[in-house]
Amino acid sequence: MTALLSVKNLQRHFSVEGNKEWLSGKKVLRAVDGVTLSVERGKTLGIVGESGCGKSTMAKLVLGLIPATAGTVEFDGKPVTANRNQAWRAARRHMQMVYQDPLSALDRRLTALAQVTEPLNIHDKHGETHPTLAAQSMMRAVGLTDNLFQRYPHELSGGQRQRVVLARALVLKPSLLVCDEPISALDVSVQAQVINLLTDLRQQMNLTMLFISHDLRVVRHICDEVAVMYLGRIIEQGSAKNVLSHPAHPYTRALISAVSTPGAKHATLNAGRIILKGEPPNPVDVPTGCSFHPRCALATAHCKTNAPVTTRIGEAHTVSCHLHTMIHHGSGS
Ligand SMILES: Nc1ncnc2c1ncn2[C@@H]1O[C@H](COP(=O)(O)OP(=O)(O)OP(=O)(O)O)[C@@H](O)[C@H]1O
Ligand SMILES: [Mg+2]
Repeated sequence: MTALLSVKNLQRHFSVEGNKEWLSGKKVLRAVDGVTLSVERGKTLGIVGESGCGKSTMAKLVLGLIPATAGTVEFDGKPVTANRNQAWRAARRHMQMVYQDPLSALDRRLTALAQVTEPLNIHDKHGETHPTLAAQSMMRAVGLTDNLFQRYPHELSGGQRQRVVLARALVLKPSLLVCDEPISALDVSVQAQVINLLTDLRQQMNLTMLFISHDLRVVRHICDEVAVMYLGRIIEQGSAKNVLSHPAHPYTRALISAVSTPGAKHATLNAGRIILKGEPPNPVDVPTGCSFHPRCALATAHCKTNAPVTTRIGEAHTVSCHLHTMIHHGSGS
């Protein structure tokens, strides 16, 4: 199988003001700091991690919405850059994004139908089907009834708005859909409906998805693969089954343990709840060695000074943690 999306050593650094009390001038914030991943056609990769670990920055880099500091993004074998040239526009219609907040993603002055028709008028003027008819058909496919077509965003519920956003993203029949926390702004009762809808559409349209979420239950439900991010890096990656059932990194274990419910399918995870200490460190001042060491209950002196390398621990499972490097490569004893 060939990868539809391939990201190599991707980095995005921001220049930010230092803390003026004791530091002046610009400091470097490493929002994304060397990410390598790929997504095969028709598969869904989940990206999980705490707030500020670089998930949205990754999404923007993948779509060429912001330039990378270093590294490459390839979509369907062609490089994606942030230069708004013809190649970018051509690729862009095949890569769509669904944002967290449907209200801010929609134009308040346009009706639901006009929002969904707009991308066709821009990118697909000479399509086989009339833009309005194609838009109506996609709106019905996402579960919007005809009586909602002429409503403005403020006249729709949160769930209905997110369906309009989805219809707008899917009406051009993209091959890649990047979802950045697509359900976190929705009511709990509506979340499941939108997730089920995404699951169905993914199959019907053979969509490849990058699915960003901090809800591991949703990730378990919808994703084939999972990448766990910490301070701009991927610290564990593999099939959703492997990573969520047999998490190897202490950080992944802590994330899973925080959401485990008694009697859950993956009951092994409930044994010994791990409490994650404190907030993630400031990405302007990334800790030395393994960046997770200040919060890790298992950290040794070695972890404080040496960065771990990515180690394969199973057929579809890699981890960056000294505990596993020692087990898999031998610790010299
Ligand atoms: N334009 C910018 N200028 C400076 N720093 C930025 C910029 N955009 C993002 N950052 C910083 O980069 C880091 C990663 O941000 P990002 O939005 O990617 O996180 P996230 O994982 O999506 O978080 P959340 O779960 O809260 O959405 C954060 O520390 C953020 O403050
Ligand atoms: Mg975000």
